[in-house]
Amino acid sequence: MKNYSQDFSLENKVAFVCGGAGLIGREIAMALANFGAKVIVLDVNRTKAMSIVKEIRHAGGSAHFEFFDSTKLTTFEKKLAQWYKKYSGMDVWVNVTYPRTSDWGLAVEKLKLDSFKKNVDMHLVSYVWMSRCVGLAMKKNKIKGSIINFGSIYGVQASDFTVYEGTDLTMPMAYAAIKAGIVNSSRYLASYFGKDGIRFNTICPGGVKDNQPSAFVKKYEHKVPLKRMAVKEEIPMSVVFLASKASSYITGETLMVDGGWTVV
Ligand SMILES: NC(=O)c1ccc[n+]([C@@H]2O[C@H](COP(=O)([O-])OP(=O)(O)OC[C@H]3O[C@@H](n4cnc5c(N)ncnc54)[C@H](O)[C@@H]3O)[C@@H](O)[C@H]2O)c1
Repeated sequence: MKNYSQDFSLENKVAFVCGGAGLIGREIAMALANFGAKVIVLDVNRTKAMSIVKEIRHAGGSAHFEFFDSTKLTTFEKKLAQWYKKYSGMDVWVNVTYPRTSDWGLAVEKLKLDSFKKNVDMHLVSYVWMSRCVGLAMKKNKIKGSIINFGSIYGVQASDFTVYEGTDLTMPMAYAAIKAGIVNSSRYLASYFGKDGIRFNTICPGGVKDNQPSAFVKKYEHKVPLKRMAVKEEIPMSVVFLASKASSYITGETLMVDGGWTVV
């Protein structure tokens, strides 16, 4: 009988987690290491990233940190070649950064054009450009790798503004453009690089519990079929699946990890 559980193994795989010091990125780095990958945490937050690297090493896993600003990509292709050499491979790449301007979160009426453009550039453009460059690097090195981008429920459907009523939160217009752009650009790249065996998929989480105001949580939970927000530990196994051989025939897919938010 075939040992299917082996298909989830990431032994001898090198996995880069761009944004690996964040709420979701941290869990992804841990999970990938758990399944045997050598994990490279890329982030602008050195302190948080280093503590994650230490935690992984302490648990017997393999992890490294590289300071990296995903909005500065002029020398990115050169960096990729250096990292490929330094870490002896590049099998998995996860884009899970959340770059945003200091005025992120303004309502439509108050939005400034420059800020809107800047956020699209920092987030959408960086995800897609990194995906493109990593795809080309994998192709050059004949690696049948997996690239995983983070979208959102709001990349496939419109925001429901009623859940923000009575709180200071809102969902900015740029988020819709960014996340929808990520979803369809991943499909584009999946189609383009399919013949090289390089896979591109998008994971779209719903809201992850993170000290949001109780008025928001209550309304959100009422709307979602599973009647609760996600906890951060519920996101990374979808990454392990898409990174591993277990998903070898899946590309261009948009995987909703949203408690059913988008089905109703
Ligand atoms: N948290 C949620 O509820 C949720 C829901 C749906 C989708 N998402 C998506 O998941 C992704 C991660 O979200 P999160 O909640 O973990 O965010 P977060 O803010 O907790 O973490 C983001 C990480 O990205 C890093 N980062 C920011 N700008 C960077 C840059 N220029 N270069 C390198 N690193 C940078 C930060 O230092 C941080 O470690 C985002 O794409 C977000 O849109 C999150």
